[in-house]
Amino acid sequence: MKKILIFIFALFSAFSLVACTDNNADNNNNNTSEDGTSGDNNNDNNDNNGSTEVTTKAIVVYFSATGNTESVANIIANYISSEIYELEPVIPYTSADLNYGNSSSRVVQEHNDPNRHVELVTTDFAGFADATYIFLGAPVWWQELSWVIDDFVRLNDFTNKTIIPFGTSASSSFRTDNLEDLALEATWLAPQRFRSRASESDVTNWIDSLNLDL
Ligand SMILES: Cc1cc2nc3c(=O)[nH]c(=O)nc-3n(C[C@H](O)[C@H](O)[C@H](O)COP(=O)(O)O)c2cc1C
Repeated sequence: MKKILIFIFALFSAFSLVACTDNNADNNNNNTSEDGTSGDNNNDNNDNNGSTEVTTKAIVVYFSATGNTESVANIIANYISSEIYELEPVIPYTSADLNYGNSSSRVVQEHNDPNRHVELVTTDFAGFADATYIFLGAPVWWQELSWVIDDFVRLNDFTNKTIIPFGTSASSSFRTDNLEDLALEATWLAPQRFRSRASESDVTNWIDSLNLDL
């Protein structure tokens, strides 16, 4: 009887060891791409017969003061499986700061200042160098994309990159010529305006219409 028990125990241990090894293999496969770099939930197009060359890639970069643009940015990133980066002002905007009805509020003061400059926590994002397409989003402020994103455009080199601007607004469209002047080396696609509470299909239909090679 004792021998039978020892045999069953040994069999069970061997089975557990094999199952455990399989799990580890699965985990490693999930976290590591074919070129051995760690996986980062992007569209690496690594299914290319062993070649490690990445042909196209997109990232989403956005600023959002009250969450509407963030929601659109998240829909884009989920739909195209891309990295997403938030542009964060060193001094965040409070609701008093955003009160454009008050002539002494921060946004009104900044809007009236031709030399306005909003310092960002960082404009340097890991996925930027390899990205071909940059979805760039912000709220519409006075019919422009919020100037909070200016430093990101000014301080990065967009050679061989395409910027796809999008904004959310209560009602108006917006211009981007002022922003385009800050990165003349970039290819700029037509700006896309979304309503403040854009639906998922508003956003995914637009992405489909772009026919990007992602
Ligand atoms: C300072 C300021 C200026 C705005 N200017 C406009 C505008 O010109 N046209 C418009 O339709 N909405 C305007 N809005 C409304 C915002 O564009 C809208 O609420 C947007 O969805 C906010 O995005 P967020 O939640 O990502 O910050 C303005 C809002 C603020 C705070």
